[in-house]
Amino acid sequence: MATPYNVVVIAGSLRKESFSLKIANALAKLAPATLKLDVVALHGISFFNQDLEAAPPADWVAFREKLQKSNGVLFVTPEYNRSIPGVLKNAIDVGSRPYGKSSFLGKPIGIVSNSPGALGGVSAAKHLQNILPGISGPIMGQPEIYLNGIGDAFDDKGNLTKESVQKVLQQYIDAFAAFVEKQNK
Ligand SMILES: Cc1cc2nc3c(=O)[nH]c(=O)nc-3n(C[C@H](O)[C@H](O)[C@H](O)COP(=O)(O)O)c2cc1C
Repeated sequence: MATPYNVVVIAGSLRKESFSLKIANALAKLAPATLKLDVVALHGISFFNQDLEAAPPADWVAFREKLQKSNGVLFVTPEYNRSIPGVLKNAIDVGSRPYGKSSFLGKPIGIVSNSPGALGGVSAAKHLQNILPGISGPIMGQPEIYLNGIGDAFDDKGNLTKESVQKVLQQYIDAFAAFVEKQNK
């Protein structure tokens, strides 16, 4: 397959100044030339309702097609009440259906959790690791990344300025590029 590989990056927060969105954008800049990251916000995704499957809303169709055309999916998630935010769960539910036709199927998966707090959203990341295996491709196991203390990592224009975070994000996206390449061969 010709590179670059297309990776859909799902930022699990609707907040304008979301750290998750800023991390997703930073990853897009740090990604090696073999990856093209398409950062997706979840504002337009209708609530999942199985009754609508007979004539799915246009936003579901577009989201599913984007996933299907991708070579991998990278989740950048905050932690809400020791789990993932509802908007992210809804997007996963939408992408996972119709039954047996999950748009995540076969896609290599990366998970980046974060928090301004001390634990880096590790519980949210672990919940994603529980939810995804039945509907996706393989999840990259190493390196793991749970970004704590993310609150002071960006300047007021949204640029990543914290060197320690830059360094681990670079390591992560380089490893994920190699993982995506291997899974798409
Ligand atoms: C409803 C709610 C629940 C939260 N629960 C947690 C939590 O369990 N663990 C944590 O580290 N932070 C928690 N937070 C704080 C978030 O980490 C923080 O608001 C973060 O900035 C949200 O991500 P975002 O910047 O991408 O929007 C919670 C915030 C909200 C609004």
